[in-house]
Amino acid sequence: MDKQLIIFGASDQAKVIYHALPDKGICAGMVDIFGNPAFMEAFDRSYPLIGDLGDADQFIQESGCTGIAAIGDNARRKRVYEMYANRVEMVNVIHETAILQINLLLGKGCYIGPRTVMNHQVEIGDNVIINTAAVIEHDVKIGSHAHIGPGAVVAGNVEIGAGAFIGAGAVVIDGIRIGAGAVIGAGAVVIRDIPADATAVGTPARVIKNR
Ligand SMILES: CC(C)(COP(=O)(O)OP(=O)(O)OC[C@H]1O[C@@H](n2cnc3c(N)ncnc32)[C@H](O)[C@@H]1OP(=O)(O)O)[C@@H](O)C(=O)NCCC(=O)NCCS
Repeated sequence: MDKQLIIFGASDQAKVIYHALPDKGICAGMVDIFGNPAFMEAFDRSYPLIGDLGDADQFIQESGCTGIAAIGDNARRKRVYEMYANRVEMVNVIHETAILQINLLLGKGCYIGPRTVMNHQVEIGDNVIINTAAVIEHDVKIGSHAHIGPGAVVAGNVEIGAGAFIGAGAVVIDGIRIGAGAVIGAGAVVIRDIPADATAVGTPARVIKNR
């Protein structure tokens, strides 16, 4: 990464990504994507800040820069990613303690958190979050804009659809398919396929609603 990095977002996920940067000096600043004056007022100025979306536009025009969308919510993160992906080179931020085995196919604009482990032949789309200490086993496919929560365990040969969310500490057993946009509750154990846009919780995980 030799260009200045813009972090699109200024809340918790933005700070998490900032702390994962091996060289903080690469970061031009965070961008408040919601344009909330009260939020800006309370923003901790020990973090670098570019400003609001207008300030970001000006910064992008004036400098060649890279970026990453830093928002936990998948739908919002997808919107921001798509707003900027054709104007800014989206880059991956990978924490130095992540363990990545061979043949990882990683898209653009992904965040890979501390102590995550990925076994061989993992395929990950664009704008994906793999959160702290998640385990992604061999031959797993994860679609764009998905989010794997902290400490989740995704066993071998699982497919996770675009924009799906796997809650903290959930376990998905081998060979399962999680549909696009599905939500898996924290601590769930998924032993059957979950349809697109369904929310499933518990052990074993059962669908409680469909969007
Ligand atoms: C699954 C989840 C998204 C559901 O949220 P929601 O749509 O607002 O659903 P509600 O809170 O209304 O709960 C609906 C029902 O599911 C139950 N439920 C919710 N989450 C559950 C969970 N993780 N495990 C077991 N049951 C759960 C609730 O008790 C409730 O049951 P009831 O109708 O019998 O009272 C949420 O509870 C969750 O687990 N989120 C994951 C958070 C996380 O991992 N964050 C990490 C961020 S990095």
